[in-house]
Amino acid sequence: MKQKLEELQNKISQTVINSADELEEFRLTYLSRKGILNDLFEEFKTIPNEIKKDVGKLMNAVKQDIQVKFNEASGLFHTTNVKSKSLEYADLSLPAELQNIGGRHPLSIIENEIVSIFNKIGFTITEGPEIEDDWHNFSALNFPENHPARDMQDTFFIDKEIALRTHTSSVQVRLMENQKPPLRAIMPGRVYRNEAVSARANCFFHQVEGIYIDKKVSFADLKQTLYYFVKEMFGEDVKVRFRPSYFPFTEPSAEMDISCLLCKGAGCNVCKYTGWVEILGCGMIDPNVLENCGIDSNEYSGFAFGMGIERIAMLKYDVKDLRTYFTNDVSFLKQFSQL
Ligand code: DAH
Repeated sequence: MKQKLEELQNKISQTVINSADELEEFRLTYLSRKGILNDLFEEFKTIPNEIKKDVGKLMNAVKQDIQVKFNEASGLFHTTNVKSKSLEYADLSLPAELQNIGGRHPLSIIENEIVSIFNKIGFTITEGPEIEDDWHNFSALNFPENHPARDMQDTFFIDKEIALRTHTSSVQVRLMENQKPPLRAIMPGRVYRNEAVSARANCFFHQVEGIYIDKKVSFADLKQTLYYFVKEMFGEDVKVRFRPSYFPFTEPSAEMDISCLLCKGAGCNVCKYTGWVEILGCGMIDPNVLENCGIDSNEYSGFAFGMGIERIAMLKYDVKDLRTYFTNDVSFLKQFSQL
């Protein structure tokens, strides 16, 4: 063993390390767990005790030589092995690494945009609870006792009287109950429906509700307000149309379509080849609803509207699958970090 060690010592003194790769090779050959030095220590355990002292000295000398060679070369080359990184010195003159600060979620971007468009024409913001009672979510809004929207299939009930709100229209009721007209507010928030999750539906989503109540508010006011909103949100070229519809809490009721942003009205699968896409429901607040909330319907009239934030974001950003908004895939979200 002594002879082996002397040969090794010789070999090391002649070894020249010329590159980072050679340094790494040196490290693997001598210093790694399966390297020569370790083997030698294993072998050392098996030799007779009387020569252990001598051989041990030599072994330590060889170990020292290997370490010195390695340290010298490390000063010249960086080993390619990550574990040896601690041998590097930090360069304090380098600029700091940029911090990844993330960005806003696309739904928040759209919500903020809607809010600021309505803020400009005097609408304030109001919020309400997501866990709601039957009165605010249904009864006060004129839903008949047996209306299908109350059905277990649509609504997540907590008990007979309490449910997760199915729309932000419940906040209208709270506002009308608590404040006197004139009222002009928008109400953004999350709503819940017991629907199977798919590319076009989710069990929760987001809406923005709006109301305007004063003396002599008319359908013409409703139309002008929504025309203004569409131009601000989607640009001057977008066309708008109203279709008669039905909601228990408005009379008359309408749905508003805009010309399809993707095919510019020519027809595509997003607009189902009609050239139009629906973006909101609206109407004149039913006098029954005003009275339910303590507002004199002979003195006051008002309009209301409600839109889905996901729908608007999908149209604006050409997102085809609703689920992408909720899976929090960073590569999807990163696309919006500059907005
Ligand atoms: N609450 C309705 C829904 O969730 C949307 C809506 C329609 C709100 C008409 C309104 C309205 O305020 O006037 O489908």
